[in-house]
Amino acid sequence: MTEIRTFPPNFIWGGATSAYQIEGSPLADGAGPSNWHRFSHLPGTILNGDHGDVACDHYRRYAEDVDLMRQMGLQAYRFSIAWSRIFPEGRGKPNPKGLDFYRRLLDNLNAAGIQPFVTLHHWDLPLALEELGGWANRDCAAWFGDYAQHVFHVLGDRVNHWMTLNEPWVIVHEGYVTANHPPAMRSLPQARLAAHNLLRGHAMAVQAFRADGNGQIGLVVNLEPKHAASEQPDDRTAMARMHAWMNRHFLDPVFLGHYPGELEEIYGTGLAPFPEDDFRLIREPIDFLGINYYSRGVVRHSPRALPFRVEHVRQHDARHTAMDWEVYPEGLKECLLWIKHRYGEIPLYITENGAAFDDPEPFEGRIMDTDRIDYLRGHLLAASAAMAEGVNLQGYFAWSLFDNFEWAFGYSKCFGLIHIDPAQQKRTLKESARVYQAVIQNRCVSIV
Ligand code: FCB
Repeated sequence: MTEIRTFPPNFIWGGATSAYQIEGSPLADGAGPSNWHRFSHLPGTILNGDHGDVACDHYRRYAEDVDLMRQMGLQAYRFSIAWSRIFPEGRGKPNPKGLDFYRRLLDNLNAAGIQPFVTLHHWDLPLALEELGGWANRDCAAWFGDYAQHVFHVLGDRVNHWMTLNEPWVIVHEGYVTANHPPAMRSLPQARLAAHNLLRGHAMAVQAFRADGNGQIGLVVNLEPKHAASEQPDDRTAMARMHAWMNRHFLDPVFLGHYPGELEEIYGTGLAPFPEDDFRLIREPIDFLGINYYSRGVVRHSPRALPFRVEHVRQHDARHTAMDWEVYPEGLKECLLWIKHRYGEIPLYITENGAAFDDPEPFEGRIMDTDRIDYLRGHLLAASAAMAEGVNLQGYFAWSLFDNFEWAFGYSKCFGLIHIDPAQQKRTLKESARVYQAVIQNRCVSIV
């Protein structure tokens, strides 16, 4: 039986990337180093010693890349601005040449009829600010607010959709708990401060936008339904704790004005409370929420697995991507419905969704990435099923347009709809890009 789902005419179809993952030339034209630039050059941090010095060379090849987007029929492009190109020291004197790059990119997008969706911070913090304590420093929120204000002022005439932060949970979890990302600390007290200042920074940027901005502004979070490995009370409590840690950690404060109670079990009790005013700030209303969805997490109680006392339970019978993430499209629908029920009718975008697979070698110029095509179709059907149940979903962005620098995994994990051969920087549309092109053109997805 073939299932066909049609999307509304005003649904927005896009692709997503981020600055450090694709741009290359990280220090060009007066840019300052970012925390990721330094981190990726430290020995042993990134698989195979990879770094973002060249990446997809998008800083120099952006015009060709926009042309590929146009050929694919993309209606929107989500990318991020490298804060340290605009403010090499993170604050103080702006660098007009860094800004010019984004102006040129935006002008090219505009000429191609592609709407920009711009993220202000996708993890690459100016190194000068990291050295002052980064997000764990209370002042970082205001530094971010000032940077955002400047960007709204100088690029606001070219952009209608802004996003403050990408996945604050990952910044906190990987930066301050697992130490896989900069600043590579293992400190729950610092994690708690960083999380709180990220939220304050987000809200300050939203306030700056309300004062001097046009269009819409939102926040992007990554969500993963948490399922208990059994009905045992311990496993169910473990599941609730991880759900609070990952999914409610940032959304409860933004929409409800307080942190989930479960966080006390992780951060500890008796800590100095944050000022009440902070929570009023953090509740500053936003126009939309961006959701990044990849997989689900099945968990069980495990008293020795600190700090969460939780273990991930791999679903051996399920399909997995090259990241070893379970392919679980139903979870996307679950997340979308959960948002609607818990936080209300805020307009939603899927700002990232996609999969890394070990792609087959090109054959007669074609890369038949059928696993990625199945993943894409399955998730689009799930998104459409959520819309049929009343979710106000306004658009979908595939992660990612290009094979790129996948953080601690370097170039070993390919998420792209477009293959890039690193030696020649030659771009090749994979079969998934062609399927996506047809989906966009017909506004429908089918699965046999
Ligand atoms: C998300 C990130 C994105 C990319 C994908 C695979 O968590 O936002 O940069 O790494 O995962």
